[in-house]
Amino acid sequence: MSSKYQKAKVIENIELTDGIFKMTIGGDYSTDKAGQFYMLRSWGVEPFLSRPLSIHDANSEGIIFLYEVRGEGTELFSKVRSGDHIELLGPLGNGFDVENLSGKIAIVTGGVGIAPMRLLVKQLMSCDDCEIDFYAGFRDKKYIVDYISDYVSEVKIASDSGNSGHKGTVLDIFNPEGYDYVLSCGPTPMMHKLAEECKKKNVKSLLSLESNMACGIGACYGCTCDTTKGKQRVCKEGPVFSGDEVLTDA
Ligand code: FES
Repeated sequence: MSSKYQKAKVIENIELTDGIFKMTIGGDYSTDKAGQFYMLRSWGVEPFLSRPLSIHDANSEGIIFLYEVRGEGTELFSKVRSGDHIELLGPLGNGFDVENLSGKIAIVTGGVGIAPMRLLVKQLMSCDDCEIDFYAGFRDKKYIVDYISDYVSEVKIASDSGNSGHKGTVLDIFNPEGYDYVLSCGPTPMMHKLAEECKKKNVKSLLSLESNMACGIGACYGCTCDTTKGKQRVCKEGPVFSGDEVLTDA
């Protein structure tokens, strides 16, 4: 990983559904790991901080980011057009250790936490004895599920509005019993509840945590989370942590 921001050309930046965008950037990203992220900026000076986006998909021709417009930075990303240049730093963070996974795996996501799972299910194809079920929760309409469904045995969907699958949360439709691993990304309260549920059932969970980030490279300590090992930096020791280690509010 270079420690400098690189300039790269945007191939496409489209809105998939209300406020959810998919941005494709050209270049060779074939060695990136699912669960890693990049710091991105599409602006000059203001806002001061870059924004972290997890890798949605990556190969030798480009990288895709999935993001939700939530504030000033992501609002600016949404204005980027194909042919524009963007600056990015990465890949950053640990990512999922796919080679250590085996058996029956559940992937559980909330909202745009589905982002890292497209590359994850592709990288899990190298695991001969893995069987994957996928559970996703949305606010309203589902997105990206079709790209993932080809790689998994079963797909179950929930939405707050009831417009996609079960009306309610993804945790309503998920029971960790019978799984060897549960891999998750989504809002922190959801992941904390999930980790507690997995602990009760003696199922190993891996959580890809979200955090506000300033530097993205472990220097500012602005992204820490509480774990059994003390405070850990989401950008450096994470973003993927064992659910057994994360101290939850659940
Ligand atoms: Fe600076 Fe993580 S964002 S240490």
